[in-house]
Amino acid sequence: MEIIIKKTEQEIAEYVSNMFINQINKKANSVLGFATGSSPISTYQQLILDYEKSNRDWSQVITFNLDEYVGLKQTDEQSYYYFMQKNLFSKINVNKANIHIPSGIGNLVKNIENYEKELDSLGPIDLQILGIGVNGHIAFNEPGSDISSLTRVIDLTQNTIEANKRFFDNVNDVPKTAITMGISSILKSNKIVLVAQGKSKAQAIYELVNGTVSAQWPCTFLQTHKDVVIVVDEAAGSLLK
Ligand code: GLP
Repeated sequence: MEIIIKKTEQEIAEYVSNMFINQINKKANSVLGFATGSSPISTYQQLILDYEKSNRDWSQVITFNLDEYVGLKQTDEQSYYYFMQKNLFSKINVNKANIHIPSGIGNLVKNIENYEKELDSLGPIDLQILGIGVNGHIAFNEPGSDISSLTRVIDLTQNTIEANKRFFDNVNDVPKTAITMGISSILKSNKIVLVAQGKSKAQAIYELVNGTVSAQWPCTFLQTHKDVVIVVDEAAGSLLK
């Protein structure tokens, strides 16, 4: 595990966006894994700037997103589909047919089956970006998630609901369940980069790097992967030895 501490969010964004750019340059039809939440937004902004400046070609890139709320349509402003369109996909020439985000409406069992099938046939993901929850969740793999878990519906913990209520008008509007890529599916990625900013993430980053591997802190499962880069600011890295 490589740990990189940067001074500013902008430096994190430049570093991580370069990882994606290098990956696309190396392989035009790269399979890229994307995440939502506030942490990766500045990286996506850098990727958009790069696209505008260099006309980098995303047309062959295949994308997979980690998760989606159950019950929200793609047109719902709080859905992760909408988030990805707004913050990245609508600003670059990614091919709509190459975008894979689990759908949280309709027949969830079927949606999950299709998503895992696509991941199996198009994967492995070459480069996956992750954020991290205050409770150490990755994607929506909440504490208690198994290392062998696949994509599934998961109950969100109360503190995840609390943490994510800032995006909704009311805490009662936050969905209680989500579809998440499983830990085992995430660990199949060839390379993983996890980004975190701010003091609220310091404990989770400490556990991720120094904690005992256990389902109590799902992020610790990343210790078992051969190629993980953690890019944090000083506040998020403040408890590291
Ligand atoms: C959500 C997402 C995670 C994300 C986490 C942290 O729960 N499902 O993928 O890592 O939030 O979000 P933020 O970056 O906004 O702190």
